[in-house]
Amino acid sequence: MSAISPTDALARRYSGAAVFFHWAVFLLVAAAYAAMELKGFTARGSAARFAAMAVHEWAGVLVLALAVPRLLWRLLGGAPAPEPGPRWMRLAGGAMHLALYLFILAQPLLGLLTVNAAGHLLALPALGLEVPALVAPDPALKDTLKSIHETLGTAFYTVIGLHALAALFHHYMLGDDTLRRMWRRRGRMAR
Ligand code: HEM
Ligand code: HEM
Repeated sequence: MSAISPTDALARRYSGAAVFFHWAVFLLVAAAYAAMELKGFTARGSAARFAAMAVHEWAGVLVLALAVPRLLWRLLGGAPAPEPGPRWMRLAGGAMHLALYLFILAQPLLGLLTVNAAGHLLALPALGLEVPALVAPDPALKDTLKSIHETLGTAFYTVIGLHALAALFHHYMLGDDTLRRMWRRRGRMAR
């Protein structure tokens, strides 16, 4: 079997920036979900509940702050062709990735709009940080946005779970480089 040349390995892997964006966004989305789950264990009006909500909102806004440059990087730099496999698998992977990109842009934006429509600003007064309001207070709009945000948030537990399972399936069952090329440094790919 011939070894893969360093040039081929480079063309078949994600760039360092793409790998950074992917795992940084993953950690922030996980933090946003975890904070929301923990909030469920806190008492109404408690400092812990306030802290859980603040972590949720700031982790979420950071997702948006990374999702925009990430998408631009992706559109300008492209991505390696999928690992060889049946057409349906490549189409399913593409559709899943598109849905995930839309989610990391839309979900934080919906959250931010919900907070603004409720008449609040996302702010960290101690650091003098304040995200300008994107919409004026509007209780009806707030209810609509909040329910879309909550429905999407719940639905994407499943989508993200399927995406992670697909990555593990490629790695452990198909034995291809799908997970490695979104993880490993360049030198480790040529084998
Ligand atoms: C990727 C980012 C985010 C994810 C994955 C996410 C996910 C969620 C989930 C799962 C819920 C609870 C749904 C339920 O109770 O059924 C929720 C609620 C909420 N989120 Fe987010 N969210 C994100 C970003 C944001 C941002 C940036 C803000 C605001 C700046 C925000 C504000 C809210 C608010 C106000 C609620 C309702 C909380 C309550 O009243 O119980 N979210 N979000
Ligand atoms: C919040 C959670 C996650 C989000 C939003 C997310 C999003 C994405 C997106 C948008 C892509 C496409 C990248 C591109 O082509 O530009 C991607 C690729 C990938 N993700 Fe995730 N991901 C998440 C979690 C995970 C987890 C937990 C794993 C592993 C267990 C994983 C493994 C992968 C792999 C291996 C690829 C490359 C797929 C390929 O080369 O075809 N992701 N992810």
